Amino acid sequence: MSFTVAIDGPAAAGKGTVSRAVATHFGFAHLDTGLLYRAVGAKVMDGADAVEAAQALMAEDLEGDLRAPGVAQAASRVAVDPQVRAALVDFQRAFAARAGGAVLDGRDIGTVICPEAQAKLFVTASAEVRAARRYRELCEAGHEVTPEAVLADVKERDARDSERATAPLKPAEDAVVIDTSEMSIDEAVAAAIAVVAEKRGDRA
Ligand code: CDP
Repeated sequence: MSFTVAIDGPAAAGKGTVSRAVATHFGFAHLDTGLLYRAVGAKVMDGADAVEAAQALMAEDLEGDLRAPGVAQAASRVAVDPQVRAALVDFQRAFAARAGGAVLDGRDIGTVICPEAQAKLFVTASAEVRAARRYRELCEAGHEVTPEAVLADVKERDARDSERATAPLKPAEDAVVIDTSEMSIDEAVAAAIAVVAEKRGDRA
């Protein structure tokens, strides 16, 4: 039986951490759909055509370091293109429909990719909190960044992701919004698990 959890939200909101924890808790598979766009963005940085890169994307393209800030910007630029997005739809929907349950995180999972998802979450936080968390992550991963540049990146991508015509970033009407600005990771994870458990009809 399939059960789809859609987790959307702006840049660096903690979707990845929450999604992995939800997937582990319920024994579901997890797909970070941002990686698909990052992989296409990385190929464009290497000179490829965005649409061709999206159409030819393979599993091994998702390996390697796609977390660099430049790749995030390239991802958000290719993500504006409806043809790039269209090329990635089938893979995401097939993943969502797999037996045993799936968690997908991104920008348009609850609105466009899986509008029928049984549980929808919109994980967000203030731009300042998100940028501070991402700054720490990038520093720990050895990237040379400044807090100012990370905040500017987060704000620029949010604006581009929200204002694009195709599949803009926004909560689905039936999404539960979790604002993690004042929450610890454990609190955010617990809130997300509680929503999914309720949608599944689990007993407390
Ligand atoms: O980890 P972070 O939230 O910073 O970004 P990401 O989820 O890896 O996504 C990188 C970029 O891919 C975003 O800024 C979006 O432009 C794009 N994206 C998208 O358009 N749709 C998705 N479902 C996932 C990502």
